Amino acid sequence: MAIEMKYKMKPEPPLPPHRMEILIGEEEIRNRVAEISRDVRDQLGELDPIIVCVLKGAFVFVADLVRQLDFPFSVDFLRASSYGNSVVSTGEVKLELDLQQAISNRHVLVVEDIVDTGLTVQYLKSNLESRNPASVSVCSLLHKPANNVKLASVDFCGFEIPNDFVVGYGLDWQGYYRNLPFIAQVHETDT
Ligand code: IMP
Ligand code: MG
Repeated sequence: MAIEMKYKMKPEPPLPPHRMEILIGEEEIRNRVAEISRDVRDQLGELDPIIVCVLKGAFVFVADLVRQLDFPFSVDFLRASSYGNSVVSTGEVKLELDLQQAISNRHVLVVEDIVDTGLTVQYLKSNLESRNPASVSVCSLLHKPANNVKLASVDFCGFEIPNDFVVGYGLDWQGYYRNLPFIAQVHETDT
């Protein structure tokens, strides 16, 4: 995927002097979210789905996606954690916050920021499927195919990206950078 431009952050403390390289720009994201919303409408538009936002990383994506959807649906939230503050997956998934509503006989769309190893999505799918929903499908803005050791089925995928740590558009480095309107690779620098 082409890198659109270089972007030099001058982060204030407590952020280290990271250098950012934009991987997916704002307009590219906006266009892709519009396309995904049409695919979601085609598959779920008549089914009164529950859209599940996987906190925290998916909150920006979900906010943009739902505003493109013009059919009846509700939104619920859960929080899954596999990383803690590390940039490398611990391989262990925890459900830290559960849905508020029951999903039996309902069509569920799980919306993730990124599928990396696939562990989180795999865990969430089997957890939700045990509650007798009509269906569970998965939408992820980003997908790192290189790390996909568990074959996770992603029904709606925004972009496939290289195996580098990325931030922005909801994704974080130690809780920071979720506000960036683009997806960027983060490089450690000395200056
Ligand atoms: P998985 O279980 O390995 O697929 O990891 C999925 C979760 O790890 C995502 O929901 C993100 O919260 C986090 N994650 C994976 N890769 C990145 C990244 O490059 N930047 C920020 N968070 C990431
Ligand atoms: Mg996440």
